[in-house]
Amino acid sequence: MYPITPTKQGEKVSFKNPNPAFYEALGEDGIRALMYDFYDIIYESDIAHFFPQDPEEFAKTKEKNTRFFIQLCGGPKAYEEEAKGVELNEYMLRLHDDFSIYEKSRLEWLGAMREALEKVDIAQELKDDFWNYVEAFSKLTVNTTVDGNKYYTSL
Ligand code: HEM
Repeated sequence: MYPITPTKQGEKVSFKNPNPAFYEALGEDGIRALMYDFYDIIYESDIAHFFPQDPEEFAKTKEKNTRFFIQLCGGPKAYEEEAKGVELNEYMLRLHDDFSIYEKSRLEWLGAMREALEKVDIAQELKDDFWNYVEAFSKLTVNTTVDGNKYYTSL
């Protein structure tokens, strides 16, 4: 369950946004609970240093992340002000370009997401569908090799 395939440099990545049924099953509060739990796990993880250390700033990122996923999953347009007319996923990729993200960082991120998702009590196929999005999309955030070179995968 929740399989992870490795990112390959230069590979074309295809993904599809989560099924709106995931949002319908969880509702806004359910998505928020999932994302807050996820970020609490991140805060204690090996990639915590990527994120703001100041609790107030961290809380802002947590809430922005929540609003992104609410909109991405078919809920209200809670994040569009940040993305300013740019397609959501495109905007997210640009935002992650500012950080040096390794495959190892992605695995840690996915591990936190898996741990949070396992606790959510909705149909397994909806969770699997959501997982497929994060598993694939996260490959596009990986942009740095172990020897420090920058690289890109593409849509
Ligand atoms: C499916 C993959 C991912 C998605 C959908 C995603 C989504 C997001 C969102 C919505 C935000 C908040 C944007 C905002 O502040 O407006 C964010 C921020 C961030 N993400 Fe990701 N992310 C993904 C993978 C990763 C991975 C693998 C890393 C690895 C370290 C990462 C590191 C970060 C960092 C460092 C920030 C900025 C924190 C800050 O300074 O506020 N993300 N991400």
